[in-house]
Amino acid sequence: MYEWAISANDIYRRFGSLEVLKGVSIKVAKGKMVAIVGKSGSGKSTLLHILGTLDSPDGGDVAICGIPVNGLSPKKLAALRSQYLGFVFQFHHLLPEFTALENIAMPALITGMKKKDAFKRAHELLGYLSLENRSTHKPNQLSGGEQQRVAIGRALMNEPDIILADEPSGNLDTETSIQVHNLLRKITTDMGKSLVIVTHNADLAALSDTIYEMKDGVLVAEKNQSVISG
Ligand SMILES: Nc1ncnc2c1ncn2[C@@H]1O[C@H](COP(=O)(O)OP(=O)(O)O)[C@@H](O)[C@H]1O
Ligand SMILES: [Mg+2]
Repeated sequence: MYEWAISANDIYRRFGSLEVLKGVSIKVAKGKMVAIVGKSGSGKSTLLHILGTLDSPDGGDVAICGIPVNGLSPKKLAALRSQYLGFVFQFHHLLPEFTALENIAMPALITGMKKKDAFKRAHELLGYLSLENRSTHKPNQLSGGEQQRVAIGRALMNEPDIILADEPSGNLDTETSIQVHNLLRKITTDMGKSLVIVTHNADLAALSDTIYEMKDGVLVAEKNQSVISG
């Protein structure tokens, strides 16, 4: 067992002369939903990539489910990502040639699960996501909200402890955004996942347990909602 799903301490990241992250520390508890808000260019995606081990910091430490990631080989990092982390991006990045079912099953097929078992689990996820009648549809036959739900299913496929979502509703209309955020909230609660969501929509961030604001590469505000939401 681990104490923190994510523990990042004093993270620095620069691109050339641009200092993007200037000493960011953030901890995410198991089963909690954390939102990061802030203006475009403030460093939110850079931080999320580092928390997801897709990028390495120039300074500071990250631990995922108690495992320090600094110095792990690319192979070990890839294994850690596929076991512990699921990603949802602004653009769904679904594979256009594959059906909704196949897209959801893909992460498990890649890690060697039997096709029959992977499709069984993908079917269950389609049901959970209210997409059972979309299983044979290709991404371009789905609405924006449906595509994003399939992407959420894909993120859940390997039963990660943590989901990282970077503006998952940035490309959706208001009503569909609310549905996607409610779904992510429900997943956190139902399945005991930890979720970090980047969004510029303050109303939608209000569904989270804790809200941080990123400003010029530092986290400047922390609003704990647990008193309000119980
Ligand atoms: N790979 C990169 N190379 C150079 N600059 C980058 C790179 N990634 C991000 N940046 C710069 O870092 C800053 C923060 O970017 P980002 O983390 O994407 O912000 P946000 O997600 O808050 O909009 C921006 O000025 C961006 O141009
Ligand atoms: Mg971004």
